[in-house]
Amino acid sequence: MKTKLTISPAVAAEFILQESVVAFPTETVYGLGANAFSGNAVKKIFEAKGRPSDNPLIVHIAEMGQLPSVVATIPSYAEKLMEEFFPGPLTLVLPKNKKISNAATAGLRTVGVRIPNHPVAKKFLAECGVPIAAPSANISGKPSPTTWQAVKFDMNGKISCILKGNPSRVGVESTVVDCTGNLPVILRAGGVTLEQLRSIIPSTRIGKHHIDGKAKSPGVKYRHYSPMAYVFIVSGIEETVPMKSSAYIGLGSSDKKKFGLKKICRDEHEYARSLFHFFRECDTKKIETIYCESVSEGGIGLALMDRIRKAAIQ
Ligand code: TXA
Ligand code: MG
Repeated sequence: MKTKLTISPAVAAEFILQESVVAFPTETVYGLGANAFSGNAVKKIFEAKGRPSDNPLIVHIAEMGQLPSVVATIPSYAEKLMEEFFPGPLTLVLPKNKKISNAATAGLRTVGVRIPNHPVAKKFLAECGVPIAAPSANISGKPSPTTWQAVKFDMNGKISCILKGNPSRVGVESTVVDCTGNLPVILRAGGVTLEQLRSIIPSTRIGKHHIDGKAKSPGVKYRHYSPMAYVFIVSGIEETVPMKSSAYIGLGSSDKKKFGLKKICRDEHEYARSLFHFFRECDTKKIETIYCESVSEGGIGLALMDRIRKAAIQ
């Protein structure tokens, strides 16, 4: 298959209307989209990614007016979260509208819905006119792509079109919040922080990943975000062995140690924005060991440490 590269949301949307798969930029990471009403179109996403079919996709819309075509009901606390954080890096899991394909939700009766806060994504979704099911646009298990070049690396020849945009601003995925119970429960930490959610709904809690032995958010049970190298979590650069084949990413340090690759970030936000890109650079340079400095789990640190820990599972 020839993969078209374009900067035109309208050109990309035409592929969607032909049941094809299109990668598109968002503020979190790039997504791999198809018409969420069409099981036939959605199945092509799972094929391109090599994603297990029991892992549901997030459905993306351009504006609140499209919500009734995606979800069946919305509890009032979820409405409050939407008012505050839509558009943005937040996904709410709600009872699904029957029109959404069962392939998109992996047969669940719920659907994750999100409105990205990104001008190109917004134009693209508006041009499509239908809700777009989209996971991150990486090959399953690999770090999520934060640039169109990373999408091309993973998906060239496997999908119809890549809508090019700038590097993703947030760099980690959206926060997934289960809104099917009496209170919001975080299934995956992400771009909207626990503190931000609690400022609107104080009773928001972090979910245990497995309920009754069954994964409530099926994606959390799979290996994720993995570069080829071994990832080690360290509390500082002093704990590392610098070599040509090792790499370091962390926060400010005056240490002059030399690595094959090194990234010192200004703060946790830059760290989050850089992590997946750094992992991919390490792959290109055939780095064998990556040291990631641990950070405190307040704010974006919660999502950042979640991604680092998952990458460190061998
Ligand atoms: O920022 C993001 O969320 C990006 C961009 C493209 O929007 N998307 C993304 O999708 O990260 P993906 O498929 O890589 O991760 C979606 C996560 C998975 O852990 C999945 O299991 C969970 O959300 N999820 C999706 N629908 C769900 C549902 N109905 N119930 C529980 N978890 C759900
Ligand atoms: Mg993903």
